[in-house]
Amino acid sequence: MHRRTFLTASLATLATGGHALAQMKMDDMKAMPGMDHSGHGMATEPAKPAASLVLKEGEALREVSRLANQSDKAGLFRAKLTAAPATVRFAEGVETPVLAYNGMTPGPLIEVFEDDRVEIDFTNDIPGEDSTIHWHGMPVPADQDGNPMDPVASGTNRRYAFDLPAGSAASYWFHPHPHGKTAEQVYRGLAGVFVVKTRADPVPAVYGDTVLVFTDLRLGADGTIPENSMVDLMNGRVGDHVLVNGQKNPTLDVPLGAKRRFRLYNATNARFLKLSFGAAVMTVIGTDGGLLEAPVVVDDVLLAPAERLELVVSFDKPGAARLETLAYERGWMGPGKPDDAGLALLTVNVSETAREPMPPLPEKLRTIATLGSPKINRRFVFTEKMGMGAGGMEMGFFINDVAFDMQRVDVTAKVGEIELWEVINKADMDHPFHVHGTQFQVVEHERDGKVTPPAYRAWKDTVNVAQGETVRLLLKQDQPGQRMYHCHILEHEQLGMMGIVDVTV
Ligand code: C2O
Ligand code: CU
Ligand code: CU
Repeated sequence: MHRRTFLTASLATLATGGHALAQMKMDDMKAMPGMDHSGHGMATEPAKPAASLVLKEGEALREVSRLANQSDKAGLFRAKLTAAPATVRFAEGVETPVLAYNGMTPGPLIEVFEDDRVEIDFTNDIPGEDSTIHWHGMPVPADQDGNPMDPVASGTNRRYAFDLPAGSAASYWFHPHPHGKTAEQVYRGLAGVFVVKTRADPVPAVYGDTVLVFTDLRLGADGTIPENSMVDLMNGRVGDHVLVNGQKNPTLDVPLGAKRRFRLYNATNARFLKLSFGAAVMTVIGTDGGLLEAPVVVDDVLLAPAERLELVVSFDKPGAARLETLAYERGWMGPGKPDDAGLALLTVNVSETAREPMPPLPEKLRTIATLGSPKINRRFVFTEKMGMGAGGMEMGFFINDVAFDMQRVDVTAKVGEIELWEVINKADMDHPFHVHGTQFQVVEHERDGKVTPPAYRAWKDTVNVAQGETVRLLLKQDQPGQRMYHCHILEHEQLGMMGIVDVTV
């Protein structure tokens, strides 16, 4: 049976932030996937951040530690990943229970080369919950991609195995994708970075290669991670502390004149990160699916949930250069709109004296051919619907008017056929759209009748579709099987904004 995935609450209650509980239709709430069925209910709004818990700032930035390769065979990467409860000391004096991969949150960094074979033995040690590992953005076979249709039951294990094709170098990541539990397992700590490198990298090695993975932590007064509230489910969960590699506003020392390569990962459930680096000049060199054709200098970047960017940052002024959030209007329903401007995520201390100059970036990074003319055109319309139900206002998240159903194939496509997907956001919030199993090319954005091409040609697997916007993209699936497409605000994915494309030969 297909469950209703509506959020039901009194809008008036939400607007005042009062006691929604009594006015919610508890029957519907209990029927929602991923909800606590104990009947003690759900808070309307997240509790205010606990003032007593202070997260230390200003520690030296930790590099995410690498997952060791257990194989000594050339071209084979083999390792174990276990998802299990762990504790982390985020704030002085409290141990926070989290979910972790191999005891770490964010999980260990997997780094391999194009053409490598990857074999990961995954154990799900999360008590009482299914899990999976989904290889976000990666060209892996559908049955190795950790879809909700292929759960790994608690206490069991499976092997994920895939061969990485030539040309697949990019900044991917991995996270759980079990039905109804993805959002929660991710905000409790399960996400990791997967970098595929190329042996012919045009970016000077002296720039380094530093992963910056953003997560969004909320701590209750007792140091535990609270469950989602009604407001979290509507807007997606936004935490109280944006962490970088698990740290709050860490520091990095660089010599004057240095250029550094950073891979930025938005691994938050729902936080839109519009970022500037102060006086340090940012140059975009890559996106979700790897390098651009040529570097592009920018003033700021928007990193929607699940998106990645590769940047080269030039530190040409002594003193502090801060990676900071800027205001961004992503649409918000109800109370508790987070103040997301002016957060310092990383502080780079640039020395007074210069070191020997670094080589410049090459003018050309690689060639990206356009995908070509589409054979098929499809439309995907995002809506959030509110309507009067028996017990109050009802709210749901839909693609083409239906909520996700694991038993239903929404779209059938053919291996190797180029398609034009038109993603239309008729809702009041931004929705970052993601497709599994492939990388696409954005053709254009349209809003209020105005059509704009993207700033550069790029491979992407996630694109923000702003309120009232239409995004047209070209894509092609190279491997058969069922693939998910969904909004990457994970609470919206959970509440129905997801579909299945079945790719046949
Ligand atoms: Cu990060 Cu279904 O994806
Ligand atoms: Cu994905
Ligand atoms: Cu969404």
